[in-house]
Amino acid sequence: MLKKHPEPDSDCVARHKALKADVEHHNRLYYVEARTEISDQEFDARLRELADLEAAWPALQTPDSPTLRVGGAPLEGFKTVVHRVPMLSIDNTYSESELRDFDARVQRGLDGDTPTYMVELKLDGVAIALRYENHILQQALTRGDGVQGDDVTQNVRTIGSIPLRLPPHAPPTLEVRGEIFMTVDELKRLNKIREAAGEEPYRNPRNTTAGTLKLLDSREVAKRNLSIYLYHVVPGDGFPSATHGEALALLKAYGLPVNEHVEACNDIDAVIKTCMKWTTRRFELDYEIDGMVIKVDDPGQRDRLGATSKAPRWVIAYKFPAEVRQTRLLDITVQVGKSGALTPVAELEPVPLAGTIVKRASLYNFEDLAKKDLRVGDLVEVQKAGEIIPQVLRFVPEERLETAVPFPIPTACPECTTPTHKDPDDAILRCVNLACPAQLKERLAHFSSRKAMDIEGMGPALIEQLVARELVRDPADLFGLDTPRLMGLERMGEKSAANLVQALEDCKKQRSLKHLLFGLGIRHVGNSTAETLAQKFGSIEALMEADAPTLEAVEDVGVIVAQSVLDFFDTPANQKLVLRLRDCGLCLTEVQPVIIEDGDNPIAGKVFVVTGKLSRFTRDEIHSHIKERGGKAAGSVSKKTDYLVAGEKAGSKLKKATALGVTILTEEDFQQLLGEPV
Ligand code: IVH
Repeated sequence: MLKKHPEPDSDCVARHKALKADVEHHNRLYYVEARTEISDQEFDARLRELADLEAAWPALQTPDSPTLRVGGAPLEGFKTVVHRVPMLSIDNTYSESELRDFDARVQRGLDGDTPTYMVELKLDGVAIALRYENHILQQALTRGDGVQGDDVTQNVRTIGSIPLRLPPHAPPTLEVRGEIFMTVDELKRLNKIREAAGEEPYRNPRNTTAGTLKLLDSREVAKRNLSIYLYHVVPGDGFPSATHGEALALLKAYGLPVNEHVEACNDIDAVIKTCMKWTTRRFELDYEIDGMVIKVDDPGQRDRLGATSKAPRWVIAYKFPAEVRQTRLLDITVQVGKSGALTPVAELEPVPLAGTIVKRASLYNFEDLAKKDLRVGDLVEVQKAGEIIPQVLRFVPEERLETAVPFPIPTACPECTTPTHKDPDDAILRCVNLACPAQLKERLAHFSSRKAMDIEGMGPALIEQLVARELVRDPADLFGLDTPRLMGLERMGEKSAANLVQALEDCKKQRSLKHLLFGLGIRHVGNSTAETLAQKFGSIEALMEADAPTLEAVEDVGVIVAQSVLDFFDTPANQKLVLRLRDCGLCLTEVQPVIIEDGDNPIAGKVFVVTGKLSRFTRDEIHSHIKERGGKAAGSVSKKTDYLVAGEKAGSKLKKATALGVTILTEEDFQQLLGEPV
């Protein structure tokens, strides 16, 4: 047993130094070179001795000590830190022709010069930025929103292949970026342990990696063997200007893990060939990749190409085609939406698809279902649209059962049996019974949702009970709920009941007309239209008095929206609902925003459309900026649109705006219009 001493003596310091170097050496051999010179027990014994020394003399434990790899005291939460250089994302391509377009853009940007491309694997994990200062790993940040991320240093230190200290020949300050991931074998190992403990297995390596990095207890992180490859150096900081290939070789020489599958390609044909090769070869790997990343090799050419506000122009991802699986269509059920729309839903034999188990998929509407001629019992092909939403593509004709019959179009609502009605102008079949319990549940969920009245605690299970027990027949009834009545419900204690009553009180004070108009679920009135109407009319009474021409005169409100608003307020049940909501004390007015009067205000009077995923602003922020400066934020692109602010993955709106010659702005351009520094 070591005796505590205020200052370690020179023997101790020397022993600590030698042990530390020794443990680091074996750690590197194991994680980087995948070999061992000593047994696991011997390694553990040396690490324990090191930990004992540091426990006795805490001053010996520096931020690069291998003892930190076993994790430390749990954190209360993660600090949010602004990235020194934003972590941009990269644009995606899905086809050979899009890759050729990228090459053409690059060559145009380089005035015809032909670049060398480096083609790498697109690792399907979690992006990370590692910062070394004085050669020591000081900080590891997740990407977050690209501008700021979470400080997960303590967790990242547990990853054995990451050097906690760089060798003397590395620049003392270095920021490298890469991907943390979990191998398929490691996921299997963890799942064996979980299943033995009766716990649900983890579904896929990417989500498990993300979840692991967000654990507050780094000792738990240390128990899961995460992996990492670094693939990018943030320029500057004394790192030599180098080609990408040279930079990767330098990182490797500093002991940083770099993926071995990198190919130099002299033209786009070679790039395409490499991408196609990995489309099948990826299944030989012990980790998941979701595509390839193609990078211009030369640093000078990268500089010439630059970046948009969302992505560098010198890099592109090629995403592998969506995985298609076959499964059995067990049943078709019918879901009733908040405005009575009946949607057929495919109930599928559970099938693993792109990382999750898929059991259900929307079939959109009965016309679509009839076109696809899907029948219960069919073997069907499913894929995920945009890697998230499951879709049924088609049935497999050879497998169709003789007994399979077309799904009958419902003549009555499955919930309340009211005869269905089909609008002549769209493909949607509806239940027109406003009191239909299925519709009511959807309406209450929408009314309570975050962008509407934002009633915390009003979840589906509670709504189900409130409707089933007939405690709530419309949204106004929610405000009559009190603690004793709520406490009579299942899974509702005194505290939850009181919290809910408080949330209902808060929403009366904190939500205004725009939230209510959105929450009422008037057809065609989305978030943005609700806000426009609230601001234009200022009160619900003024809106209810408006006639068709007055409504249609409002920017962004066409004949269809105007008619829908008129129909809604013409319905006696809705008029009564508004009166009752007023009596409950809800705010039915909107305060007009203060318009910034400025001679050079380039936003005043202009019509903006915002599309795609934003990284600098939230959608609400950008809309407020536009409105505060007297501009208009519209929902769709038309000839009247002056500017389209396009974020990441902008799709059809960007295409339409380009076709109409609308000025396209990046978020950065928009920030400049605001007169703010970029
Ligand atoms: S390069 C400035 N290389 O894919 C360039 N990214 O979908 C930074 N990713 O955010 C990225 N493998 O998290 C690069 N070999 C690779 C990659 C890679 C995976 C991730 C990265 C990025 C995301 C974009």
